Amino acid sequence: MSDYVLNERDGSLLVLTFNRPDKKNAITHDMYTAFCDGMDEAAADSSVRAVVFLGNGDAFTSGNDLKDFAAGIQHSEEAPVFRFLKTISQFEKPIVVGVNGLAVGIGTTMLLHSDLIYASPDAVFTTPFTNLALVPEAASSLLLPRAIGTAKATEMLMLGAALSAEEAVQAGLVARILTGANFHEAVLEKARELASKAPTAILETKRLLAKNRAEVQERMDEEGLLFAERLKTPEFMEVAAAFFEKRPPDFSKF
Ligand code: COA
Repeated sequence: MSDYVLNERDGSLLVLTFNRPDKKNAITHDMYTAFCDGMDEAAADSSVRAVVFLGNGDAFTSGNDLKDFAAGIQHSEEAPVFRFLKTISQFEKPIVVGVNGLAVGIGTTMLLHSDLIYASPDAVFTTPFTNLALVPEAASSLLLPRAIGTAKATEMLMLGAALSAEEAVQAGLVARILTGANFHEAVLEKARELASKAPTAILETKRLLAKNRAEVQERMDEEGLLFAERLKTPEFMEVAAAFFEKRPPDFSKF
């Protein structure tokens, strides 16, 4: 279990919270593993009706930890990030997400596999893969255009363009903005409402709403292979070095 993930019960909810605020909740291998272990626990426990993802501090998550990415990952089901993507894309119970502040990379693409998605007024959604010399993941090249339309998705996936909370609601990525002093509590209220409903009706509704799993898995695999390859390229190494040296990347030598 990672110290950077809180795993808590709230009645019939399992609440998993990114808890690495000084690094904007950048997700390490151990954090993915802690999320997956929590979700496996939730799947096996009939008293858990839904899981909730939250982030402590001023960001939901700044995406994958770039140090871990720079060390490279294998495209295998055991690699924590790929285990996480498989777990969320195949999870049968509802996933409720509260996005406070920044949702970078997988912070946004995980929403494409979630069910009830709420944003704080200052939420910002980005998928800056090309800025990192990378390619889309989590089947986002398939699901983001479906969620928000091809034009907007292309701008996000090619340019790294950001969506504000309001734009994300208008585009259909997020159900609504929750205002008020305690955002996490407002998200939990929505999740509790969901958890109070007839459980089998909810599970069946999620199943009916689900995207074609085989198609999603196939795209995720295609993207995952490319993504893992891209992490080994000099272009990505330059991006990672530049980030930690706090300078812009220099692609002029490529
Ligand atoms: N991986 C590793 N460390 C990260 C990180 C990440 N994805 N995102 C932020 N951090 C670290 C920073 O290195 C910094 O650490 P330091 O205090 O030891 O220097 C700390 O978190 C705070 O980040 P900082 O950049 O100072 O905050 P900011 O408010 O100016 O900017 C972000 C926040 C998220 C816009 C910026 O950190 C960023 O662009 N991060 C990378 C996002 C990314 O590319 N993720 C991968 C997507 S596939």
